[in-house]
Amino acid sequence: MELVPLGPGFGVEVRGVSILDVAIDADAYKAVRGAFEEHSLLLFREQPIADDIQVAFSRAFGPLELTKAASLGENSFYSRLTNLGPDGHVVPPTDRQVLIAQANALWHTDSSFKKTPALASVLTARVLPGADGDTEFTSTRLAWERLPSDLQARLTDAVATHSYANSRDQIHPDLANAAERKALPPVRWRMNWLNPTNKRRALYIASHAYAIDGMDDRNARQLLAELMDETTKREYVHVHKWRQGDVVMWDNRAMLHRGRPWDYAKERSMVRTTISATVADGLDQVKPTVH
Ligand code: OGA
Ligand code: MN
Repeated sequence: MELVPLGPGFGVEVRGVSILDVAIDADAYKAVRGAFEEHSLLLFREQPIADDIQVAFSRAFGPLELTKAASLGENSFYSRLTNLGPDGHVVPPTDRQVLIAQANALWHTDSSFKKTPALASVLTARVLPGADGDTEFTSTRLAWERLPSDLQARLTDAVATHSYANSRDQIHPDLANAAERKALPPVRWRMNWLNPTNKRRALYIASHAYAIDGMDDRNARQLLAELMDETTKREYVHVHKWRQGDVVMWDNRAMLHRGRPWDYAKERSMVRTTISATVADGLDQVKPTVH
């Protein structure tokens, strides 16, 4: 296995090991898992892409998340991100499927609004729009390490509230529908996630986060916005330009990501599988202490 650096201080392209190797070979998995813990973002190029191979690869890392209520392909392992409608045509730019893409364009970590947040996401490109539609990444681990120590001390035990509706409401008031609001009530997480394998902390924030325990809402939103701005400064961002055959995997404990806009008249179809966080991944670390 060879690792080629990708982003500013995080991310590697993995060469010499394929996603199929990881699915069937414990040693390949171990090596890739080590790279994941260390580098937070992995890229595999020229891979055999198919739903079942993607699931077999993802499954090696832990339990797979089921898609939430009201998603395309609800209650399956596959999150299908596409602007192709059920009739096989690209949907109009005002369609819910495009609004979902626009919500994904807000900096976020996957599933911080769920009862069990995500350890990792695996994203594959199925149909690319030609240009644009890049995915951007930044390290919340490096962001945490850049924070002044007094702010680190303040945030070590701080707890933020996350909800699906909070990020969707920024795009359109009806984007989160009644079923989703009911199925996804707000959840609270510590504002940092300690990685149990290397003991490095990462800031844990997202477009889904809006309130902080013990702070008034205005100040909480302002602090969250400041942390977000600092974390996502241009020089800290890696832009992934998709090619056919790419598999990108990221650590949701230590990364923020966002999808970039593209010409919505062109099809862009992606498939994501998501691995839930477990106690071994530090899930207890991110749970608020019960007082
Ligand atoms: C995701 C996501 C952005 C993109 O799959 O979780 O946010 O570029 N995707 O498709
Ligand atoms: Mn996402």
